[in-house]
Amino acid sequence: MALPTQVSPPQVAVSDVPPSAVVGADVVAIPVLVGPDGADGLTLGPGAAELLDELPEDLFALLESSEATGKAGEVVERVVLDTAGLTNADLRLVLLVGVGEGTPAELRRAGAAVARHTKGRLSVATSLAALSDDVGLRALVEGLVLGSFEFHWRSEGPQSQPVGKVVLAGLVDADARSGAVTRALAVAGAGWLARTLALVPSNVKNPVWLAERATEVADRARLKARVWDEKQLAEEGFGGLIGVGQGSVNPPRLVRLDYAPRRGGRKAPHVVLVGKGITFDTGGLSIKPRDNMMLMKRDMTGAGVVLAVMGALADVDCPVRVTGLLACAENSVGASSIRPGDVVRHYGGRTTEVTNTDAEGRLVMADALAYAVAELEPDVLVDIATLTGAMKIALGQKTGGYFATDDALAATLRVASLSAGEPLWRMPIVADYEERISSKVADADNAGGNPGAITAALFLQHFTGGLPWAHLDIASVGDSPTDELEYTKGATGFGARALLHWLEMREPLAGVGGRTA
Ligand code: BES
Ligand code: MN
Ligand code: ZN
Repeated sequence: MALPTQVSPPQVAVSDVPPSAVVGADVVAIPVLVGPDGADGLTLGPGAAELLDELPEDLFALLESSEATGKAGEVVERVVLDTAGLTNADLRLVLLVGVGEGTPAELRRAGAAVARHTKGRLSVATSLAALSDDVGLRALVEGLVLGSFEFHWRSEGPQSQPVGKVVLAGLVDADARSGAVTRALAVAGAGWLARTLALVPSNVKNPVWLAERATEVADRARLKARVWDEKQLAEEGFGGLIGVGQGSVNPPRLVRLDYAPRRGGRKAPHVVLVGKGITFDTGGLSIKPRDNMMLMKRDMTGAGVVLAVMGALADVDCPVRVTGLLACAENSVGASSIRPGDVVRHYGGRTTEVTNTDAEGRLVMADALAYAVAELEPDVLVDIATLTGAMKIALGQKTGGYFATDDALAATLRVASLSAGEPLWRMPIVADYEERISSKVADADNAGGNPGAITAALFLQHFTGGLPWAHLDIASVGDSPTDELEYTKGATGFGARALLHWLEMREPLAGVGGRTA
């Protein structure tokens, strides 16, 4: 069954004319700024004066009567009935959009609000970017695009269409800003792809399907790609992937994608990203209760994020070599499923006793990490996985958790996560809990018990060869319970933007592993 055609994100253009002069725009969006006096000192941003000259009504009076506060994301709507005297006769709607103090986070939120208020419109001209630098402009565009996100499988098409086009108007030196727009679109596009992949139902999205999407992205982005089928995985000793995948009619796959920067390619440091690609997690024979199974089509979010990031590296001009590994399997219930008490031998030889078949993510991740260490000479390993329900209890659904063995790497990832609007909080790798993952018969037990997120990290650490390593556990933030900020209810693709904000830095590995530059 093929995926129906999905909506496209809005196009984004830049212009130096004020928004009211952008001919063809049916919506104009003007920022409302909070001054030092709070809601009493609201001011309208650039482009307002030109609009006020042409419109019969008083926009300040409108702000007052609607009790606007200027808070980021607040929108006051004014329908335009009389277009006589307007430079742009197509104008139908004016939006006054709160941006608070105009910080990047506030602009991201304002952008998402504009996206929600312009569904189905042709084009919106906005001066929201006119007051901000490139950091703010990027946040705005990321919000505008991701706030437009929609996924559907309706016979009659999507419920609504994103606005067709966004014109960032009133920009002094508009041409000089287009580089920032390009990067923002690459990052937002990666978030969009990661969400879409996570939302595809698992009767379509099996490991073979996901590997096919990966090779498509690789072709488009000119990445080298290799896919292991189940026979090759068995021959080369990927016992975790084979063990988890053996209960399903849909066989497992490992995907490897390689990116090299245009300049200094061979000598550049090497980052390996590993993503959990469980295309459906029933729990296996240690089966999940029905409510817990509901969202498990998105248990491949980590792999989707890694894929989306790989596809965008060239567009953000990433300066380091990056290899992406997608560890894909379906954790299913069947006569050939892996049993509690079975022992698997991972790539490289380490063994695991599987005391709970629902702790399957770490089994496939272990293979991929061990492969990276043995074959890829990485300088840094970063993995991302919807690994433990414990993470939701620890941090809730508004911040992701990560573990890191290297303080410089931890600090850089934290900064990148904040600038991307995907906040990550560092968790401790407490070696004292190591005994909880010990096994009577094998090198480790896959379900060491509480504290669940930490024992999972400890399990994975054995496969990292002592290299600088970070582990992102996005089990809880992979899903947004409501339409909020730039998130739409459902899959978030969390991590794609944070990883790109990291990998586009001039020196993503500065200070890592004692490195000085
Ligand atoms: N895919 C789940 C984790 C998960 C939970 C993701 C909720 C998204 C939302 C993972 O494979 C799992 O089942 N983990 C178990 C591990 C336990 C059996 C040691 C868990 O967290 O309960
Ligand atoms: Mn599971
Ligand atoms: Zn899982």
